[in-house]
Amino acid sequence: MAEKKIIAVVGATGAQGGGLVRAIVSDPSSGFTARALTRKVDSDKAKELAKLGAQVVAADLDDLESLKRAFAGAYGAFCITNFWEHFSPEKEIAQAKNMAQAAKQANLQHVIWSTLEDTRRWVPLSDHRMPTLMGKYKVAHFDAKGEADKLFTEAGVPTTFLLTSFYWENLIYFGVGPKKGPDGKLALTYPMGDKKLPGIAVDDIGKCALAIFKKGREFIGKTVGIAGEHLTIARMAAILTKALGQEVRYHEVSPDAYRQFGFPGAEDMGNMFQFKRDFEDVFCGARNPAVARELNPSLQNFETWLVANKNRIPLT
Ligand SMILES: NC(=O)c1ccc[n+]([C@@H]2O[C@H](COP(=O)([O-])OP(=O)(O)OC[C@H]3O[C@@H](n4cnc5c(N)ncnc54)[C@H](OP(=O)(O)O)[C@@H]3O)[C@@H](O)[C@H]2O)c1
Repeated sequence: MAEKKIIAVVGATGAQGGGLVRAIVSDPSSGFTARALTRKVDSDKAKELAKLGAQVVAADLDDLESLKRAFAGAYGAFCITNFWEHFSPEKEIAQAKNMAQAAKQANLQHVIWSTLEDTRRWVPLSDHRMPTLMGKYKVAHFDAKGEADKLFTEAGVPTTFLLTSFYWENLIYFGVGPKKGPDGKLALTYPMGDKKLPGIAVDDIGKCALAIFKKGREFIGKTVGIAGEHLTIARMAAILTKALGQEVRYHEVSPDAYRQFGFPGAEDMGNMFQFKRDFEDVFCGARNPAVARELNPSLQNFETWLVANKNRIPLT
């Protein structure tokens, strides 16, 4: 039997990378095996991945030599940065540079870079509809990833640029789920007007990424956008109402009000939602659920995701 090709998965203990590791280990005929990169090889999450059959190795995105070791001998890599850990776009760019360099050194055949749009292409710094953040960004956690695309290309790394969507798991873990207002009623608070938000289940990102690795060559140099479904927030609230058996409303706020909520990253998130609202055609157009379904025929929509996950959403 041919030896399996190793996919080095950055962020394996997290949402996207974890989804990919689970996709790889659940598909023994894929021809791939997962190497999970983490800074904490002894963490419970890392141990779980080892139990699933992944090879767990130590690596830190801030340490180029550790990445070179972790990528050595692999066929491909899934690359991601986590803005929300440090809130630094410059750090994301430096980490992407390290991954691109390590991928080149290891002569990887295929890298998937989990990127996002550089929103400054559509909202230049001179456009004052939203504030400029940290001196040179509009949506820092998008812009830095988009800016980093060229680092992979310039390093000569065979790369697929993956545009993911708002994870529905954010309703569970990211503090953007239904919350009780002063009237005791549940509401989704978003500055999205009546525009559609592309969403996806995290495990479907992993399954799509695995399909991209399987298809290989035809996706190299391409940008692929994926979503499970495009939904207005009002529609999400209606679907939640049905699934939870209690009313969830859409509490629409302006992007300005959202930016002033004061939690860490509120301004960045306010700008992000405003970008998704004001450029609905561009943003939804780049994330076609039909493309995702072709890669992953078991793609979930919001309703099917809720069947398995509604009880995990905190309702406070
Ligand atoms: N939430 C959304 O809807 C959404 C949608 C699209 C894109 N994104 C983007 O997704 C990114 C986060 O990805 P996620 O949600 O999959 O992550 P996550 O669940 O928050 O987990 C973060 C992962 O990154 C790894 N990591 C962070 N810093 C590292 C470093 N210095 N060296 C090695 N590994 C490091 C962590 O590994 P260890 O801790 O085990 O080392 C962990 O596996 C963000 O940048 C965000 O912008 C989010």
